[in-house]
Formats: sequence, structure tokens, C-alpha cells
Amino acid sequence: MIYQDLKNKRVLVTGSSSGIGQATAIEFAKQGCFVGVHYFRTKQGGEQTFAEVKKHSDGILLKADVRSQSQVNKMVGRFAKTAGGLDILVNNAGDLIERQPFETATAAYHDNIYETNVRSIFFVTQAALDWLKKSAGCIVNVGSVAGHHGGGDGAGIYAGAKAAVATETIAMAKEFARYGIRVNTVAPGFIETRFHQRYSSAQRVKATVQQTPLGRNGTPEDIAMAILFLTSSEAAGFITGEYIAVNGGLYMRA
Ligand code: NAI
Repeated sequence: MIYQDLKNKRVLVTGSSSGIGQATAIEFAKQGCFVGVHYFRTKQGGEQTFAEVKKHSDGILLKADVRSQSQVNKMVGRFAKTAGGLDILVNNAGDLIERQPFETATAAYHDNIYETNVRSIFFVTQAALDWLKKSAGCIVNVGSVAGHHGGGDGAGIYAGAKAAVATETIAMAKEFARYGIRVNTVAPGFIETRFHQRYSSAQRVKATVQQTPLGRNGTPEDIAMAILFLTSSEAAGFITGEYIAVNGGLYMRA
């Protein structure tokens, strides 16, 4: 599926060294976009994504810890200067870090979860805002099904943070509409990436397939395609403050 209006858009995808971010960066490259591939710990993953991007289009490889405002500011500035602006921001970087139940979780863990999943989006979005105003661009924030159902074992604090992402998305949509900027959330269900290689047992991965009405776990491309849809003004130009669940029916709501 090619969206004509996405061609030549300048897109920054945070956390694109693996999983959902990697697939999203590659799909934007296939649309003919200039893509900012961002990594933090895994340079090799970033380089791998970047090599795929270069097969279809052009871009730039960027490093930053999204918990650091100064690193984020540098990253966004470098992207916009190189690309000549910024049209689309995908705030995908996020992490469960580890499973810690409320009963024993530490304050440091709680802070780290919110810094990684919520404050990071605030930093990147604020740094990108002047550029997005110039392009009347758009933002997609990556939430989670956990933000609705409260998460699995030891993922409750992460679930709360992802709920905050969805709520802040609505608030941003209200605040930025005056600039013509649309802001939406895509909330993945159970997507087979290294996320679950780290945090979920093989048994859990299998059990989720059985609990999912569509009978499979998601792929990073399932999420990437929903993100693309939301960023195309041809397809979704009147959609803002919306929340799209991509979870195979694992969690449904009216
Ligand atoms: P992943 O582990 O492959 O990707 C996470 C990305 O975030 C990585 O590229 C990582 O480098 C980046 N990241 C984490 N902490 C960072 C930091 N401090 N600074 C800079 N970058 C940082 O996992 P996946 O599954 O692709 O996750 C992508 C997003 O989707 C995350 O926000 C995650 O919370 C969310 N998600 C994933 C689900 C799944 O089932 N895999 C379900 C619901 C949401």
C-alpha cells in the first residue's frame, strides 16, 4: 500500500533499532520518506535498520537516550537540520525494563519506567514542536494494550505509564490542533519482538495466541501499517486524539 502524500516526508522514528520501530522505519522508507533511524544501546540494530532504509530511500542514523533532554534535543536538531525539517514524529521508544510487582517495586524502577515511556515522549515532542509547526505535521505515540487491562504480572507500573501516554496524546491533540498538527496513539497488543524474548516465557507467548480471537500474535509490521495509516493525511487527515488498538481482538472495548 502506497500513500501518495507520504512521499518525501521527513520522518523520525524513535527506538528503530529493533522490533516495531525497525519495521516502521523500513515501511516509511518504502513510501519514499527520509527516515531518522534512532538507537540507544544497540548500534548494530540501528545500522541494520539504516541499511534496509537505504535500500528504498534515504535517512540518517541517530543515537540518544530518550531519558536525557540534552541528548534528545541534539538528536532532533541534527535530524531536522539534515532533513531540512520534520513532518512526522513516531514516539515508539519504550520499555518494560523488568517485571516488578507493586508489592516490591523500587522507587528507582518506578522513575525509570516513567522516564523511559512517558517523559521521553514529552522531551522528544517538545524538541520537535517548532519543526512540526512549520510543516503542520503529525505525531503517533506508541501506547500499549497494557494501558487498558493493567498489564500482566509485574507490569502494572508500565501499564500505568502507557495509560499516561494515551491520555497525554489526547491532551497534545487538543493543544497542537491550532498548528494543524494531528496526534494519535497506536496501542499494540502482544507483538512478537525482542520485548517478549526478554520479558515473557515461551509458554506465555503460546498462551496469548490461544487467548487472541484472531488466533495469532502480532508482528511489528501489523503495527507499522497502522502508524502509516494515521500519518497519511490522505487516509487519516481528520483523525486526531484517537487511539487505535492493534491486538487481534485480545482486548476489545466499545
Ligand atoms: P523493542 O525492545 O524491540 O524496542 C524498544 C525500542 O525502544 C528499542 O529500539 C530501544 O532501543 C528503545 N529504547 C528503550 N529505552 C530507551 C531509551 N532509554 N533511550 C532510547 N531508546 C530506548 O520492543 P518493541 O516491542 O518493538 O517495542 C516498541 C514499543 O512498543 C515500546 O514502546 C513498547 O513499550 C511498545 N509495546 C510493545 C508491545 C509488544 O508486545 N512487543 C506491546 C505493547 C506496546
